[in-house]
Amino acid sequence: MSFRILGSGSALPKRVVGNEELSAFLDTSDEWIMQRVGIRERRVCTTETTADIALEASLQALEMGGVKPGELDLILCATVTADHASPSLACSVQSMLGAECPAMDISAACSGFLYALDVAAGYFARGKKRILVVGAERLSRIIDWSDRSTAVIFADGAGAMVLGEGDAFLASKLFAKGGKDVLSIPVYEGDSPFYENEQLMPFVNMNGQEVFKFAIKAMYTDLLDVIEMAGLTINDITWIIPHQANVRIIDAAAKKLGIPPERCCRNIERVGNTSAASVPILADELIRSGKLRNGDLIAMSSFGAGLTSAACVIRWTQ
Ligand code: ACO
Repeated sequence: MSFRILGSGSALPKRVVGNEELSAFLDTSDEWIMQRVGIRERRVCTTETTADIALEASLQALEMGGVKPGELDLILCATVTADHASPSLACSVQSMLGAECPAMDISAACSGFLYALDVAAGYFARGKKRILVVGAERLSRIIDWSDRSTAVIFADGAGAMVLGEGDAFLASKLFAKGGKDVLSIPVYEGDSPFYENEQLMPFVNMNGQEVFKFAIKAMYTDLLDVIEMAGLTINDITWIIPHQANVRIIDAAAKKLGIPPERCCRNIERVGNTSAASVPILADELIRSGKLRNGDLIAMSSFGAGLTSAACVIRWTQ
């Protein structure tokens, strides 16, 4: 027993920040950002918390799935920007929903949502019947807004899926290659009078070119592996949902895989890179677009800090 998707939802904060607005205080331009990253605008929280947008996405997913909060067996939230170290984001969502099930966070950066789907599959194998999986980020909180190489990329948002019993999760692959040289987000170290190590700024540190190389390789190999694990070929896949990190990464990997552009979903131009929320926001847009047909095969792929990467194949069943 694995699962099938019963419903999905997504939420973006109201505040739109366009490239021109960033260019007013960063040495950058709309032309550079569009050409090198493919983002025209992104959403940034002003008063919304990570839990607020996670809740909105969850409520939409529950409504579409016809599932009440009290019927949930488990809530999993993928995030690196929970509002608190504790309670977890999942516990905050559980409380706001009025649910009574266990709840926990998964930390695998941009790959977090696909890690969480894999974890959920394990719980279905152990008899759980209804699981809410959320990816939600307020990355604007951990950006150095004077660093043009990261400030133009990251954004805020949330996506959610309600999963029920079924056999639609056909294959999944998780990967990790631990290390902090390429991409890291230090934590605030506190002010212990006894701790002697240097306090690093709690912002995203990224070697963009190394991430770029890792990302294309991860997306290519993970998708091929997971499609083979499902007993399929790339031509059987109806839709690819890639992590929205950089349009050039998506284009390069899709070209290498021979995927026609119309089958490769994207929203990076108006949503930006929302890390763990990226894949479920895009999946929700596809589900609500009316383009999905019963039996369509969806391959999802993500990569990020850790370094981590993940991919899966899901059959759309109504
Ligand atoms: N505006 C203008 N110029 C910029 C900007 C900017 N926003 N950012 C960097 N530059 C400059 C650099 O300073 C450099 O200038 P120099 O040649 O005078 O030194 C020049 O542009 C080229 O810099 P590169 O780093 O070589 O630029 P590149 O084409 O590699 O693009 C980028 C940088 C966009 C970060 C790219 O490497 C990339 O997208 N990497 C992947 C990043 C990514 O996907 N991160 C997220 C995945 S992980 C996750 O989601 C958590």
